[in-house]
Amino acid sequence: MTPAPVDRAQRMPAHAAAPAIWDWRYGVGDDKTQALYKKAVSEQWQADHLNWAYVIDPARGLLDPGRDTFIDAEFLRPLGASQREEFVALCVADTLSQILHGEQGALLVSCQLAQSLPDKDAKLFAAAQAMDEARHIEVFSRYVRRLRQVFAPAATLCRVLDKVVSARHWQAQLVGMQIMVEGLALANFSKARAATNCDLLRDLLKFVMRDEARHVAFGNHYLKTILSDMHPDDRAEVEDFAVEMVKAYRGWGRDPEDMAGIFANLIQVGVDPLDYLARLKANLAANGSIDLAPKMMQGLEAIIMPGLKRVGLITDRVRHCYLADELDSAADARTLEDLEKSLLA
Ligand SMILES: [Fe+2]
Ligand SMILES: [Fe+2]
Repeated sequence: MTPAPVDRAQRMPAHAAAPAIWDWRYGVGDDKTQALYKKAVSEQWQADHLNWAYVIDPARGLLDPGRDTFIDAEFLRPLGASQREEFVALCVADTLSQILHGEQGALLVSCQLAQSLPDKDAKLFAAAQAMDEARHIEVFSRYVRRLRQVFAPAATLCRVLDKVVSARHWQAQLVGMQIMVEGLALANFSKARAATNCDLLRDLLKFVMRDEARHVAFGNHYLKTILSDMHPDDRAEVEDFAVEMVKAYRGWGRDPEDMAGIFANLIQVGVDPLDYLARLKANLAANGSIDLAPKMMQGLEAIIMPGLKRVGLITDRVRHCYLADELDSAADARTLEDLEKSLLA
């Protein structure tokens, strides 16, 4: 899907409506889902309580410059100081805009899950998550607007979100959102929080990460049970969905359409994108290869692969698909578990 300009609403070509499933029993569900819901209720926070009077300098250390190969590229260093500061500021606003769009995706999917999950307690958790995501949209949109304009969603992000919103099974939506989109977000927030020089962003991320850790924990817990209850054919569809999602993420930064944002930022600071491309090619020739999205690969390996393995989605049938994408199907879960432990304490 080609993203519409950011000044208008867009209907994504989602083709499968989330089924409305009622639970008339209102019985006592499992302890873990109930505990996560109660935790969500007791940990609600107010965006207005953050220090919005804090003066943000978008050009100085808001995010780790090494997060993106394009921004940290050697051949961009000769830019003049003001040109470089402007370029960094634009790229930071672009990165945070993508996070903001991901948060809107999480709001849409958590509302769908409240409608489709078959148990009362799971519905309550999804509803509480929707409130969390509403707050995340509030804080990130406020923050991005303090920096610059909101940038359009990247083509790959649009594809990923559309896959999740339009997935045929709500089990696949849980995999796509709670394990993949939110798992990667959690990893990126953790790195951003450690790297930033901005007190406001650090405080904001502390609260957002606590919420996201609950969302990831719920997905992990609920999927372990419900995947084993699925018909084998439906379950195979969910396994294939996870493979497709990883493939889509793997392509982030490699798709020429994803370059549109960085090209616009280069033009804005007076750098000719064609000259930039020529230098990129020269760099490739000199160094043999350049990983265009190294941080994405780290997140896939440290967070997504262990998450999928934990809920039993890396089966013998699909293992070779991950290996073909250079991803270790015997992924080590320590990074994911450490992150969860520190945030869910
Ligand atoms: Fe969120
Ligand atoms: Fe979330």
